[in-house]
Amino acid sequence: VAQDKITINLIDRKGKKHTVQANIDDTILDVVLDKELNFESFGVCEGTVSCSTCHVVFSEDVYSKLEEPLMDEMDMLDLACGLTETSRLGCQVYLTEEMDGMTVTLPREITDAREI
Ligand code: FES
Repeated sequence: VAQDKITINLIDRKGKKHTVQANIDDTILDVVLDKELNFESFGVCEGTVSCSTCHVVFSEDVYSKLEEPLMDEMDMLDLACGLTETSRLGCQVYLTEEMDGMTVTLPREITDAREI
């Protein structure tokens, strides 16, 4: 049987690590909501690609295996605070089996693109 859950680590805005079991094919935003992680202002547009508060930073090896972001994700990322080379929107990245054990980091600062 193929496994349908993986373990991922999320580092919150204060640097605290949260280790959770997550469903493959869920987005990172789904995981944060499901596990009630209550990360400050995370995902306020509920995955409609209009806030950029779900900005997360991946390690290079995981980032390099992700599918290319679509145009609306790229536009929104441009508005994100503290953008890095390995930044993505958490509501647009779906978990895969390969991501088992990965760590993603929330930037300390956020911008809500709806308020710009
Ligand atoms: Fe708003 Fe992802 S939740 S852009």
